[in-house]
Amino acid sequence: MSQPKKLFIKTYGCQMNVYDSERMAEAMGGQGYETVDSPDDADMILLNTCHIREKAAEKVYSELGRYKGLKAEKPDLKIGVAGCVAQAEGEEIMRRQPMVDLVVGPQSYHRLPELTARTHNGAKAIDTDFPEEDKFEHLKSRPKAKRGPTAFLTVQEGCDKFCAFCVVPYTRGAEVSRPAQRIMTEARDLVERGVREITLLGQNVNAYHGHDTGLAGLIRELSTIDGLERIRFTTSHPNDMDDALIAAHGECEKLMPYLHLPVQSGSDKILKRMNRSHTRDQYFALIERLRAARPDLHMSGDFIVGFPEETEEDFRDTLDLIEQVKYGSAFSFKYSERPGTPAAERPQVPEDEKDDRLQRLQALLKRQQQDLQDAMVGREVSVLFERAGRLPGQMVGKSEYLHAVHVTAPENQAIQPGDLLKVRIESSGPNSLSGVLIGR
Ligand code: 5AD
Ligand code: SF4
Repeated sequence: MSQPKKLFIKTYGCQMNVYDSERMAEAMGGQGYETVDSPDDADMILLNTCHIREKAAEKVYSELGRYKGLKAEKPDLKIGVAGCVAQAEGEEIMRRQPMVDLVVGPQSYHRLPELTARTHNGAKAIDTDFPEEDKFEHLKSRPKAKRGPTAFLTVQEGCDKFCAFCVVPYTRGAEVSRPAQRIMTEARDLVERGVREITLLGQNVNAYHGHDTGLAGLIRELSTIDGLERIRFTTSHPNDMDDALIAAHGECEKLMPYLHLPVQSGSDKILKRMNRSHTRDQYFALIERLRAARPDLHMSGDFIVGFPEETEEDFRDTLDLIEQVKYGSAFSFKYSERPGTPAAERPQVPEDEKDDRLQRLQALLKRQQQDLQDAMVGREVSVLFERAGRLPGQMVGKSEYLHAVHVTAPENQAIQPGDLLKVRIESSGPNSLSGVLIGR
């Protein structure tokens, strides 16, 4: 048998890219490539990129610059750019970095083996189409190897919302849902291979319509799979949170009490200019209904500061919204101008204002997160253990609320990855909790 070739994939950006990278590795596995952890002796380097903010996109070019020496030493080395920068910038990438051999957009990954074959003898290959066929069905099915206790599963892609700041509708295209039966098959396969928690992914996951009764229907059906213990989903838009999905938070035991529901801003004026098509009061009302269904629900969110024309007063509305909701975790960003999106054309907030607002916002979020985490001390949680910790016998896992939890088990009760155990929380540190086992 010939030696396997070595593929190094570097993944940027969202969890969807993590899932896509896994699937591309599997597709290339069928072509005799095995994945390696370093670019140094790779035969192929693939960057799976993110275009959401300027910084993320620029990282790709500086990373490519680093591979110049490798390519000079090894002219056969193939370098590919996948993901949203590939989709948005296409041939421009090859102009800026002529050593790039292939460019493949996020909807064309199933064509990766064929594109790679086309790059023989220095030829270039580019594919940024939005083909009709389902890329996941064309990718080689997952090999049966064992895997860790948690997995991502993409169920929906693309977005029709056109928030005024966002490139996703352009890079990932219109909303498309995968049929429920295919997702069920993939989920059963993951569970057979050791997965106990699945996070359903989609840019607008709660707009999923591949099941008769939407995402709630899919979650209920997934709940019937024995051995699948936990279900999560991300990312949601407030306007797609329907009654059935709200009810599922109270009724479906396997659905975890943690919800990522970005609001971006707490100012009605800014929400309108962002084209979010809901108000802050509608967001509050939604959270009230969700918490009525599941009182211990931990909220998570995304925030943008310094969106064009955001005043100090608008910003304070965002701080006030955060004070009222109390987030268990959150991601926050300075607004970044994205070419081709409506907001890029509008009067911009000065950079130092953005810096100042981001600092104030993050200080508030951090305090809130710490308070909520500290409030877990003394409580019983269930922990799905994932990996060994730094101390002898210590294992680390996640609670239902996504807190990292460290436990050192007595010697005769060693914990294995994949164990789902009851833990009493005893202390809260800067980024994680510690506790003791109270039952199996
Ligand atoms: N600038 C800053 N943040 C952005 N996001 C999306 N587009 C931009 C942008 N142009 C943030 C939003 C979104 C998250 C994935 O990234 O908060 O929810
Ligand atoms: Fe981007 Fe999300 Fe808005 Fe769609 S809903 S445009 S993915 S921020």
